[in-house]
Amino acid sequence: MRKLVAGNWKMNGLRADGVALARALATRAADTAPKCDLLVCPPATLLVQVGAVLAASPIALGGQDCHDEAKGAHTGDIAASMLTDAGASYVILGHSERRAGHHETDALVRAKLMAARAAGLTPIVCVGETAAERAAGAALAIIGGQMGGSLPENHGGDPLVVAYEPVWAIGSGRTPTSAEIAEVHGFIRAELRKRVADAGAVRILYGGSVNARNARDLLAIADVDGALVGGASLDADSFWAIAQST
Ligand code: PGA
Repeated sequence: MRKLVAGNWKMNGLRADGVALARALATRAADTAPKCDLLVCPPATLLVQVGAVLAASPIALGGQDCHDEAKGAHTGDIAASMLTDAGASYVILGHSERRAGHHETDALVRAKLMAARAAGLTPIVCVGETAAERAAGAALAIIGGQMGGSLPENHGGDPLVVAYEPVWAIGSGRTPTSAEIAEVHGFIRAELRKRVADAGAVRILYGGSVNARNARDLLAIADVDGALVGGASLDADSFWAIAQST
């Protein structure tokens, strides 16, 4: 399966930064065909401008979150249809920073997934254990619970991406071993078979301290179909190097 390398810019970048980064990536993609599918998820304020820069490039645009309702009185929130309207084709859902910082539950992530699907977006559903949960031997149980609660019982054949992001690996410079990642990705694939029509076609991304130095090894692990990259996606050279490691 062709891999997907996605950049999660998080809450970083003013307009000039986002446009410069998008331009640098678009230039690289024009010079050399990317070896994988590419996606950037800028802050909402940059979507339209970054989307305009990337319009003629193969790099897709995504949001970082959406509300579970289609529209209405939800101050500060963004509807899935607004992301589509801004040019996005993907949306990250249930990132651990939102689960922790905004008290997002599995049920809410599932409701957001339904809203994203209705708007024609491909959801990227994030799961992952904390350091304490891994130390307690509970990683697979936690991830299984998150999958069970965050995905619909029968997802059918709609596009879907799952990202395995151990909370303790995000922004820490630490990554699980290859064997640990292979175990979790194999487990996620098996869980997907219970609820998705074509589980083999769902891309399972690894995320958490992916950089230009470790990307080749991480992307070679069984059932790792791409990467969700935070910090290293803010630098065009790093992000491009990760993409070309596939
Ligand atoms: P990181 O973030 O690459 O900076 O660890 C990954 C993520 O949170 O998606």
